[in-house]
Amino acid sequence: MAQADHPVTKVDFVNLVASFGGTATSTQPQPVNHALVERGAVRLGDAVLVNSRALADATLRNRSLFSSEDLVEQGNTLPLIPLGIDPPDHTAYRRFLDPLFSPRRVDALEADITARVNRFVDTFVDRGSCDFTAEFAELFPSSVFLGMLGLPWEELGTLVGFRDGLLRPGDLAMRPEERSAIQRDTARQVYAYFDAVLDQRAAAPRDDLLSLFVSAQTAEGRFRRDELLSICFVLLTAGLDTVTDSLTCFFAFLAQHPGHRRRIVQDPDVIANAVEELLRWETPVPSVVRWARQDAALGGETVEAGHHVMVNLGAANLDPAEFPDPLEVRFDREVNRHLAFGGGVHRCLGSHLARRELRIALREWHRRIPEYTLSPGYEVSYLPPLRYVPDLRLSWAT
Ligand code: HEM
Repeated sequence: MAQADHPVTKVDFVNLVASFGGTATSTQPQPVNHALVERGAVRLGDAVLVNSRALADATLRNRSLFSSEDLVEQGNTLPLIPLGIDPPDHTAYRRFLDPLFSPRRVDALEADITARVNRFVDTFVDRGSCDFTAEFAELFPSSVFLGMLGLPWEELGTLVGFRDGLLRPGDLAMRPEERSAIQRDTARQVYAYFDAVLDQRAAAPRDDLLSLFVSAQTAEGRFRRDELLSICFVLLTAGLDTVTDSLTCFFAFLAQHPGHRRRIVQDPDVIANAVEELLRWETPVPSVVRWARQDAALGGETVEAGHHVMVNLGAANLDPAEFPDPLEVRFDREVNRHLAFGGGVHRCLGSHLARRELRIALREWHRRIPEYTLSPGYEVSYLPPLRYVPDLRLSWAT
């Protein structure tokens, strides 16, 4: 049986999404994804796309056969920790990071996150309309991060600029080499920026995440500076855009489904379930990728050693074997074991934080702006790399 020590090519998320029919860009990817579930595994050139829940689990849970090592390309010159590392090293990183993003840690952020949502809503609530993406969804998750990292509000633009340079370099019309050059240049700036802040925290520790990083480095001698910089880089790329994308998908849905919106307004206790169901329905990270260390059979297809397996999370989240009535958005779903945060050892580090941000955003928004619609004449469209509405316009009566 053939074996491979390293993937043949790295994966750029923009090309990944474009390569399987653009479900991230479709206004309604659910019917296509639902149809893909029945097909199980589909060959796409050298890669295999898996769509059912069973095949998604089989891929994500078999960490020795399906690797994440050194796979995703985001302009980084250091490895992506923990995203691009396999066990056993991965286990040590997660053992350090998991407690820092635990439900208890997130509880402590409740008041801060609530204040940040309201600070943004204050800026447009009396106007009766907003560009939800630009004025709220793009900024709020980055501002939560500022707080966690102990950085002041004035640094918001810096974080947002880093995020854009890494995840939305230039525009899609640019050549891939030009976009990669922007990513690499931004990555250099990100490493230098966090290196300087980590120096500051080493000299004068505070009650923030970066000070904990530095003390873990010095007290326990476990992590080198380059490892900490890699972690900072991944937190920036994994933690900001994903919540932004989710918010744009959620509010685009709610603005077009007044029954679901009213349910949230009338019974805010439903919000926790609504967040899970909207994560399942929208699956803002539509797919994740692995590479096969050996030839592997998946649902009647064989992925050869060194080639990619793409896990279509959006389809797995519509599998009738797991979800009764998969094409219905039901806030009263009692069991909702969706894969929007992935699965297996690389399951999202920030799921508790993400859920809390989304719940608080829905709660505070609907408390203050219960009735809203898409702005007149505006039509929703989605852009990759994740599922994202780039210009969501909302209106309400004042
Ligand atoms: C709704 C928002 C979010 C969604 C939908 C999401 C989704 C995901 C998914 C699907 C993965 C698995 C990637 C893979 O298997 O290759 C992942 C991993 C990860 N996420 Fe999230 N994420 C969200 C928010 C966050 C936040 C707020 C953070 C900040 C801490 C974060 C940090 C990470 C990290 C560090 C990983 C890599 C974990 C590992 O490799 O062990 N995510 N996320």
